Amino acid sequence: VGGVRLTREEVVRENDPTNNVPESIYAKLGMQLHNRDNHPIGILKNAIFNYFDLNFPENFYKFDDLFPIVSVKANFDDVLVPPDHVSRSYNDTYYVDSQTVMRCHTSAHQAEILGQGHNRFLVVGDVYRRDSVDSTHYPVFHQMEGVRVFSLDECAPSGMDATSYAAVDLKKTLEGLAKHLFGDVEMRWVDTYFPFTEPSFELEIYFQDKWLEVLGCGVTEQEIIKRSGRTDCVAWAFGLGLERLAMVLFDIPDIRLFWSTDQRFTSQFLDGKLGVKFKSFSKFPPCYKDISFWISDSFTENNLCEVVRGIAGDLAEEVKLLDNFTNKKGMTSHCYRITYRSMERSLTDEEINQLQWNVRDAVENKLKVVIR
Ligand code: PHE
Repeated sequence: VGGVRLTREEVVRENDPTNNVPESIYAKLGMQLHNRDNHPIGILKNAIFNYFDLNFPENFYKFDDLFPIVSVKANFDDVLVPPDHVSRSYNDTYYVDSQTVMRCHTSAHQAEILGQGHNRFLVVGDVYRRDSVDSTHYPVFHQMEGVRVFSLDECAPSGMDATSYAAVDLKKTLEGLAKHLFGDVEMRWVDTYFPFTEPSFELEIYFQDKWLEVLGCGVTEQEIIKRSGRTDCVAWAFGLGLERLAMVLFDIPDIRLFWSTDQRFTSQFLDGKLGVKFKSFSKFPPCYKDISFWISDSFTENNLCEVVRGIAGDLAEEVKLLDNFTNKKGMTSHCYRITYRSMERSLTDEEINQLQWNVRDAVENKLKVVIR
């Protein structure tokens, strides 16, 4: 399987006024962490595939090489995301041009694959979101999508209505998956909303004294089933973030580590199995720098984070709002604290100071704010 491969030149339309994809994001295309058998993301993918192979004799068809640049229609319209939903905004999603995005979820492939007639499938791949900067957020991460279609005839003997039948099967399947990955953990279901499912749920697991959201799922909206050319069917779907789970399973403390090529990281996963706990090589010291400015109406935190990442790359560990006030003239000031830290070495004062000056310049030039 595989979508049409475009060359980098074909997708980089820097001159399109609607393009908001920085170079650093294009650079992630084709990295395929999920297709590396000795990388935590690839290991987790294989473990999930393995669970489905073991438990479903009728195989789930697996897609792990679909091209991550998709139409706005596929990413949003085909899964019924309303026209005014925040996820469509330029603040949240990377647009290559006004009709084309870097997929923000693997659900972008649901409609197409259903349309091809598949009734059970898994899709794994890199997804892209503009977001804040901290130890659990990175603008590129990986998702696993699963979809299963039932005919009403399959549901009938249960005596349940088809939606309940699908919901029960969905929960059973995903609880089994969580046990397969985590062993005996405490779990709970939380009701939620997704445009493409009704009812919709999140699964949380209790881990290290906290409830951790691990996936979203639900019973597929009938409209999606109908448009796929099916009648008398019901389906479930789930989407799960691989980094989130891998951080827990492998004890990986910072999401940037997944991108590290440092042997002290990569060498720890060579056996390609779950169960290894990552041993931190000594944590290097963080360095904090604050920046204060008067914002303009168009200011957003995601834009700030992108500027910081553009300059500091993976040396930016966190960007956090410290202070926020509005003066009598109605001007609003924000103070952000930027944490710089390398996963691999100690940074010098000189290097950090230079980074911070470059960040200040870029913030002033690109964000229309006034530094204080
Ligand atoms: N696409 C959703 C997300 O990215 C997850 C999801 C997939 C939810 C399928 C329900 C069904 O958050």
